[in-house]
Amino acid sequence: MRISVIGCGYLGAVHAACMADFGHEVVGVDIDQTKIDRLAAGVPSFHEPGLEPVLRKGVESGALTFTTDKSAIGDARVHFIAVGTPQGGGSYAADMSYVWTAVDDILAHARPHADGPLVIVGKSTVPVGTAQAIADRVAEAGLDAVVVWNPEFLREGFAVQDTQAPDRVVYGLPDDVLAGDTGRAVLDEVYAPIIAAGIPRLLVNYATAELVKVAANSFLATKISFINSMAELCDASGADVTRLAEAIGHDERIGPKFLQAGIGFGGGCLPKDIRAFMARAGELGVDQSLTFLREVDSINMRRRDHAVDLATSMAGGRLVGVKVAVLGLTFKPDSDDVRDSPALDIAGRLWGRGANVVATDPAGAAAVRSQRPDLHIVDTADEALEGADLVMLLTAWKDYLAIDPAHAKSLVATPRIIDGRNVLDAHAWADAGWDYRGMGRTASTW
Ligand code: UDX
Repeated sequence: MRISVIGCGYLGAVHAACMADFGHEVVGVDIDQTKIDRLAAGVPSFHEPGLEPVLRKGVESGALTFTTDKSAIGDARVHFIAVGTPQGGGSYAADMSYVWTAVDDILAHARPHADGPLVIVGKSTVPVGTAQAIADRVAEAGLDAVVVWNPEFLREGFAVQDTQAPDRVVYGLPDDVLAGDTGRAVLDEVYAPIIAAGIPRLLVNYATAELVKVAANSFLATKISFINSMAELCDASGADVTRLAEAIGHDERIGPKFLQAGIGFGGGCLPKDIRAFMARAGELGVDQSLTFLREVDSINMRRRDHAVDLATSMAGGRLVGVKVAVLGLTFKPDSDDVRDSPALDIAGRLWGRGANVVATDPAGAAAVRSQRPDLHIVDTADEALEGADLVMLLTAWKDYLAIDPAHAKSLVATPRIIDGRNVLDAHAWADAGWDYRGMGRTASTW
């Protein structure tokens, strides 16, 4: 199958590479020449474990090409829209301009196909109602094409696995049975290995497919904020949120995942998706249905305030001139993404309060160096720890989990640590002589 993927960011680049790996002929299009040059050379433009070999294989075989020339999509039967929908300036709503530009590009360059109607597959996270609006626009333009909405659930750090073997696939299909069936059949062919593996495939209408994505992200965000609100109660009462999460997680109805309390969620999806969802609910006249997400957002942002306040109190009430070693800047490990990263936000706020912040990150350092030249970034944890008055572990990179507390103690000026992700062995650090503070966690006997 000849496929085009419009937008080669996180979602699009991974999708294009994985579709070529499925045996299709794929062209990825993006307006960013630097990104395209890297991808065309088989080099990912971001840190994603497992992507490079898949990308390289596709590029070297000739099945996968990347270009800024939009007319290159002309021969494809299937056009994937994989552009970003960031939070719009000055509002909670998603900025949909890239999606509409992608639609215009398809209308300008797609050529009718001998095998039947073209299939336009939306993968971007969009406000409910978008798929129908695109289908209407395509029909008005007279292009023989079926629009299918096929949300993407990939996690950074697991993007290849989540694309090639997802938990489920969702096809949002048009009400017209014939058109819907064409869309389903073509997408089944594109995803043949996924279908053959028996991965659940749900056929739903457009609105349901669009909502599935934001509902899933809202649920995940709610789960994280729930456990973070429990962390606040644990702090106030002397309980340990990690043990509490473990105990409630044994209940199958609750489950143990996404109950890691800490400095909260960030990244390019959860924060902006719950906000865009609230904005869309307002437009639909059902804003009350999602007012709880405002609280989810507030609890999440409060975690950052709490981390800064805790740092200030551990440093004796002021941060001016205090050397703080920050371990981790990305929004989560195995990613170089610092978009809306709680770690970077906290590092910046500490700096704003006069701390001498020395930060490090295995993958995010380059992005931070260009975005926040005011922050002092070093290459290794040891360099950051040297002479520190306070250590803050803010992203749970494996390297940091393996730090020996006795070794770290030999480097710092004062052995004080805030474990912003509750991932260190509290007893081991306390036993090694550290003043250890987790987030809603104590180093008590039990
Ligand atoms: C998320 C969704 O998981 C994915 O399905 C969707 O397609 C895109 O958005 P991602 O942004 O890659 O994926 O990150 P995710 O693994 O969900 O983590 C989001 C944030 O929550 C990170 O900052 C992470 O550190 C934080 N988190 C996660 C917690 O604070 N506690 C947890 O228990 C889990």
